[in-house]
Amino acid sequence: DEEADLVTRAPIVTFLGHVDHGKTSLLDALIGINVVKGEAGGITQHIRAYTVEKDGRAVTFVDTPGHEAFTEMRARGANVTDIAVLVVAADDGIMPQTEEAISHAKAAGVPIVVALNKSDLEGVDPMRAMTQMTEHQLTPSEWGGDTEVVRTSATTGMGLDELLETLLTVADLHEYRANPSRKALGVCLEAEQQGDRGVIAKLVVQNGTLRVGDILVCGSSHGRVRAMTDTLTNAPLQEAGPSTPVNLTGLDIPPGAGDRFHVLSDITQAREIAASREHGSRTESLSGVTTKVSFETFQELLEQGRLGEQQEKTKLNVIIRSDVRGSLEAIDKELTKLENPEVEVRVLQRSVGGVTLADVTLASASDAVILAFNVIPDDAARSLADERGVEIRRYDVIYKLTDEIRLMIEGRLR
Ligand code: GTP
Ligand code: NA
Ligand code: MG
Repeated sequence: DEEADLVTRAPIVTFLGHVDHGKTSLLDALIGINVVKGEAGGITQHIRAYTVEKDGRAVTFVDTPGHEAFTEMRARGANVTDIAVLVVAADDGIMPQTEEAISHAKAAGVPIVVALNKSDLEGVDPMRAMTQMTEHQLTPSEWGGDTEVVRTSATTGMGLDELLETLLTVADLHEYRANPSRKALGVCLEAEQQGDRGVIAKLVVQNGTLRVGDILVCGSSHGRVRAMTDTLTNAPLQEAGPSTPVNLTGLDIPPGAGDRFHVLSDITQAREIAASREHGSRTESLSGVTTKVSFETFQELLEQGRLGEQQEKTKLNVIIRSDVRGSLEAIDKELTKLENPEVEVRVLQRSVGGVTLADVTLASASDAVILAFNVIPDDAARSLADERGVEIRRYDVIYKLTDEIRLMIEGRLR
């Protein structure tokens, strides 16, 4: 039976944070390479993903060019990350993109470990950044909270062992497991057409084992795996197990970031599924609706093992915007009262001010409703919300807001 085949898999750890706070440098230092030096303008433009052995344990690290990639993947229903490392430069503290990263990690429901980076710099005050964290509901464990904060320096190597240890401890708590004997499934991180070599796709296997010669469908592309290489060493691979990122050739067209893949036994069927999706997505973009609609058949879901999973508590994700802090708190309190054993109201983000593009992106990736209390969305936010089918509900009386949320909860339960 399936349960008996489960083995522990490497945790997939993604670095998130404000630009230049040291995500790439930290990853480089952790695995002993130097990618940051070769980056044009010192800006990460590609997703990098490596599996490394540390103290006999495998860990998969993902470095992102900002959180757009992370969000885009979630918008397509693909959560590849098990643990988020929030990189905060000690001299800068929490910046706008750090705030967004926090919201995205929270919305993904993954544990957050903070790397208080650049701690080698003279005169930095770690207390300042930690106080800011607390204001964002991330209370450091040394202050009695449940967020692990590790002071690091990519430059001197300070705290790297501790960061790794902390990540492995979090991984032990969660026991990430997978079944290497089943057909592979996973997600495309990025892909491109490279002249004569054809399509090079960076995929991460989430479950099962992917082998050279396997037939796969990934989004609206398909093909037979021609060759695979290790993302760090470029060594050729015959197979790749759970939590392994690979560079792969053999697909007919580049899949999109966040497209899921799975292995099929029949190439004709693979072609048909890929073609039906291509057709479907064209219809979709014409009608102005984006990636939300799924083309997966029952059969595909079965193959991916996504049916029959344990039923979770119903979650209603909300983002709250309000004109003043006082009403934010009042709304929060009212929402807590609405929770019951079957429903959890998750507040992904709460802030003062009008509804922004970033709110809509987060809502779209998290299937959340935006509650706007005495504020309005700006034009850009409004048009993206229309395009993505994100609901922005406006209120000027708190009890009307809570009444509607109650109805929404009941609607979702029916
Ligand atoms: P983006 O990918 O552009 O978002 O940046 P990033 O978060 O990956 O930061 P990156 O690793 O490119 O580092 C930005 C700058 O900070 C570089 O000049 C690094 O050398 C420097 N830096 C990174 N970590 C540290 C550190 O721990 N201490 C000090 N002093 N400098 C650091
Ligand atoms: Na940078
Ligand atoms: Mg970088």
